[in-house]
Amino acid sequence: MKILAIESSCDETSAAIVEGAKTDPAVKIIANNTASSLPTHSKTGGIIPEAAAREQVKFIIPVIKKTLEDANLSFSSQNPPDLDAIAVTIGPGLIGSLLVGVETAKTLSFIWNKPIIPVNHLIGHIYANFVEQTTDYRLQTTVDSRPSTVLASIEFPAIVLVVSGGHTDLILLKNNGKITWLGGTRDDAAGECFDKCARMLGYAYPGGPVISELAQKGNSKNFTLPHPMSGSKDLDFSFSGLKTAFAKLLTENFNIQKGGFNKKTNTWEQTPLINLLENKEQQKLYDLCASLEDTIVDSLIDKAILAIQTKHVEQLIVAGGVAANKKLKMKLKTKLGELGVKLYIPEPKLCTDNGAMIASAAFFTKPNNMPLNLQANPNLSLSS
Ligand code: KG4
Ligand code: ZN
Repeated sequence: MKILAIESSCDETSAAIVEGAKTDPAVKIIANNTASSLPTHSKTGGIIPEAAAREQVKFIIPVIKKTLEDANLSFSSQNPPDLDAIAVTIGPGLIGSLLVGVETAKTLSFIWNKPIIPVNHLIGHIYANFVEQTTDYRLQTTVDSRPSTVLASIEFPAIVLVVSGGHTDLILLKNNGKITWLGGTRDDAAGECFDKCARMLGYAYPGGPVISELAQKGNSKNFTLPHPMSGSKDLDFSFSGLKTAFAKLLTENFNIQKGGFNKKTNTWEQTPLINLLENKEQQKLYDLCASLEDTIVDSLIDKAILAIQTKHVEQLIVAGGVAANKKLKMKLKTKLGELGVKLYIPEPKLCTDNGAMIASAAFFTKPNNMPLNLQANPNLSLSS
C-alpha cells in the first residue's frame, strides 16, 4: 500500500509518500519534503496564525509536486498517480494552516478518485516511531542489542509520552490504534515552556533547540528551580509555574534588555541576552538554561516512569518535537535501561512535524467514507 500524506497543522508544510503494510515493523519513506515558514515568523518574534496560513498556501502545491516527482509519480488530473490513498492532518493545530492541507487533500481525492484518510496530528507523532529510520535509532535501550539493520517491531502494550509545542500527554497504547489517555499538562506544554523561556532570552520560536544548546555548557546544580508536581501521584504535568520561576531568576540575576517591534525596520528585534553578557555572566546564563532543561526533562521522566509502573508495561514510546532533545533521550536511556524497559524515540528529523509520520499513522486509521465532507478541527483531542 502506497500513501501520500499532507501535514500542514502549524508552520511546516510537509508531504510524504510512504509504502508498507500494517504487518511491517516499520513503513518505508519513498519521498518526504518539508517547507518551513519560520523565517517569516522570526520577523515577528512568534507565529502569527494568519501569516502561517498564507505561507501554507504558497508552499502546499510545490511541496506535493516535488514529493510526487521524487517518487517518480505523475501529477495530472488525466493520469492519477499510482497511490492507494491520500492522508491528511485534520487537527489539532492552527485552523488556517489546517484548512490549506485538508482542502488540498479533498481536491486531490476528488480529481484522482482516491480514498482520504483523516489523521490526528498527535497520533501522527506517535507513528513516527513506526517509520523506517536511517539506522535502528528508534530503539534506544541497551536491553535489546539487535544489529542496527534489523528493525525491531514495537511491542504492546506501551506507554506513550507525547511532548510537542502544544501538548504534553501520557497515553496507554494497548495495540495499534487502541489508545487510553492517562494524563496531561494542566497548563503549558513542555515545548511551550522551552519556547517561552527562550523568548525571554531574546530568541524566536522554536526555543527548545536553543535552550538545549546553551544548557550544554552549563551546570544545572548552580540554580534551583521548582520541580513541577513532584510527589503527585497522578499522571499530570504543569509547566507554567516553572516558566514564572525562570523569569524571576532571570530578572534577579541579569540586567535584561527588553527587545520588541522596531517600527523603522518593521521587524521584531531583540539581541539575545547571551550576546550582551561578560564571560562570567554568560556562564551563569548557561547554568540557568541547564537547570531549566534538567527540570523539564526530570518532570517528564518521573511521570513517564510512574505511568510505566502503574500500568505494568515494558515499553515507552516518546513522540513530538521535544523528543528531539538529547538530554531527555540520554536520561531516559539510562533510567529505563536500569528498569529493563524498552525505549523508542524517532530520529530527530522525524520528531518534529513531517508528512511521513502522518502517512505512517494512516496505515492504522479508517478512511473517511465521505471525503468531501471532511472538516479540519483545530481542537481535535487524542480521544476523538
Ligand atoms: O511537534 P512539533 O514540531 O510541533 C508541534 O506539534 O507543536 O514540536 C515543536 C516543539 C517546540 O516547542 C520546540 O521548541 C520543541 O518542539 N523542540 C525541542 C527540541 N526540538 C524541538 N525542545 C527541546 N529540545 C529540542 N532539541
Ligand atoms: Zn507536531
